[in-house]
Amino acid sequence: MKKLISLILAVTLLCAAIPVFAEETPAHVLVVYFSHAGENYNVGVIEEGNTAKMGKIIAEQMGADIFELVPTVPYPDDYDSCLDVATEEQRTDARPEYEGEIDAWEQYDTVFIGYPIWWGEIPNIVYTFMEAYDFAGKTVIPFNTHEGSGQAHSQRDIERLLTGATVLKGLAVRGRKAQNDAEGTKADVADWLKSIGLAQ
Ligand SMILES: Cc1cc2nc3c(=O)[nH]c(=O)nc-3n(C[C@H](O)[C@H](O)[C@H](O)COP(=O)(O)O)c2cc1C
Repeated sequence: MKKLISLILAVTLLCAAIPVFAEETPAHVLVVYFSHAGENYNVGVIEEGNTAKMGKIIAEQMGADIFELVPTVPYPDDYDSCLDVATEEQRTDARPEYEGEIDAWEQYDTVFIGYPIWWGEIPNIVYTFMEAYDFAGKTVIPFNTHEGSGQAHSQRDIERLLTGATVLKGLAVRGRKAQNDAEGTKADVADWLKSIGLAQ
């Protein structure tokens, strides 16, 4: 019995002497996206945007933090009105503002940037974000949803703008698929992350 008590005491003391390593390390991967809920092409009226759904899948698979670019002035719910606003933003090369800012930007070495294709382009609000932060030394990975344009020329546009970053090959998914086929989108994301060396 004495031996047992001594053993328990010894184990207890040993455990107390071992430093605790269980503290969570902060995420080094960030998913930033813009996405528009409401009425949209080919999906009807949606509560959560297509790119938002895709972004959350990426964040889940990467164990990443998420920052959504929420416009200070909301875009119209109505699809046709939203088309008009996007047209005007592109015509004037606007830089629409968004809510909040990203805490501890330096802690992230890998940043996924997500957006829908709007008239063949990255929406202007995403430029507001890309121009506001220093991407030097970071790895950037674009992702987007669309209804026929694929990535359009957004990969090249990001490479040209974020010259200090290493930009990996992005993934384009149909908005309708991202909205309605979670399992298919998860599989596409998993295959893509493997193909660019970010997952096994
Ligand atoms: C203003 C606007 C312009 C669009 N232009 C295009 C386009 O040029 N090419 C395309 O494939 N899809 C286009 N779409 C469709 C969106 O890219 C697609 O529905 C996307 O999945 C929307 O993502 P979201 O729900 O995250 O905003 C456009 C949609 C809107 C609202």
